[in-house]
Amino acid sequence: MGWGLTLTFLRWGPQFKLHRSLFQKTFAQSNVKSFRGIQLHEARKAVRCLVADPEDWEGITHLLTTSIVFRIAFGHEIRDKTSPYLALSAAAHDATTGGGIPGTSLVDVFPPARFLPEFLNPSGALRHARRSRPAIEAVREVPWRATLAEIKAGTAPSSFMRTHLARLAAAAPPPDLTVADVKGATSTVLVAGGNTTWSTVLACMLFLTKHPAVQRRVCAELDAALGAGDGGGSGALPAARLPAFDDLPALPYLARFTREVLRVLPLNPLVIPHKSRREDTYRGMRIPAGSVVFANAGAMNRDPATYRDPDVFDPDRYLRGEPYPAGNFGFGRRKCPGNFLALASVDIFLATLMAVFELKKVVGPDGEVREPEPGLLVGLGG
Ligand code: HEM
Repeated sequence: MGWGLTLTFLRWGPQFKLHRSLFQKTFAQSNVKSFRGIQLHEARKAVRCLVADPEDWEGITHLLTTSIVFRIAFGHEIRDKTSPYLALSAAAHDATTGGGIPGTSLVDVFPPARFLPEFLNPSGALRHARRSRPAIEAVREVPWRATLAEIKAGTAPSSFMRTHLARLAAAAPPPDLTVADVKGATSTVLVAGGNTTWSTVLACMLFLTKHPAVQRRVCAELDAALGAGDGGGSGALPAARLPAFDDLPALPYLARFTREVLRVLPLNPLVIPHKSRREDTYRGMRIPAGSVVFANAGAMNRDPATYRDPDVFDPDRYLRGEPYPAGNFGFGRRKCPGNFLALASVDIFLATLMAVFELKKVVGPDGEVREPEPGLLVGLGG
């Protein structure tokens, strides 16, 4: 598909380790605090846009999550929905998600099938892969070129791209790092981090709407932490001030709520499949080398041995000692390196949103309340 040097698709090996280390350092729990200013700015911008145009909650939250990772990657804010970078990111999202179930296409089973001429091609996934190349190239090349020009002119703001390119220009550059690596890693921040966070924000908004009692508790907790606005305490009126990151520790119910959304609606219920490099044995079962292995995070999150009444949406289950869901960000050495950044973006946006808005179910023209129902499309997460 042309993903090239994209960590998600790199095989285990020296280049994988190099890319992994770029992400691990930048997005470590201690380091993501440096992005709080960006996240807070974008959260407040999004809520301001929502006040002006509440109908466009999907577009505005897409702008929110894309702009956070775009600014981290390339240094620039995406100011509004007319930005071409938003369209580039959406096209790359379609390229990522539209290829069917990861690990199950004809090409996964029989790699030489990728050379089939189009008129002999029976695979929708392969057609999708071929169609997607321009979008993938564009998201890697277009913002890169624009930012490179600024870096050369000395006018580029700080960014993942500028930091790692500067390391190449240093007196003793890292021995294995190349410009192509920095380019691949920079676009991966955008591609892996934007739409995954967006989908999580949308899922949280859905569950806040679906469970008004839960929403009222989120608002009551916020009122207590921030001070209620006129007649507050009901959650129906804006809080006295907007939350900042320092307020999040005083919002434990919000944190439990977000984790409960992750548990009941994992974006990647089967995570991302991985291929076993060597023959292995797991609980007495033989896994031949080259097997495609799916981790069933969806089943783990609903295991009745771990979660009482797993189908019930209950953020308080974690007070009973039930564990936060384990697999939403994957496992082991391929676990999502962006998880701390993502959760911080989601939490600060939700806190800001709920300080200002009340979410209500849609009432149809027939006067009937439309119950929002969660659902996922088949594809690679997001
Ligand atoms: C709520 C939002 C997010 C979710 C649900 C999510 C989920 C995942 C999952 C399930 C994986 C696969 C792990 C595995 O293969 O075992 C993954 C990998 C990855 N994620 Fe995230 N992610 C999110 C946000 C982010 C952000 C914000 C970034 C960027 C800073 C990011 C960067 C990556 C990268 C680079 C990988 C590939 C890691 C590797 O293959 O070694 N993700 N993510």
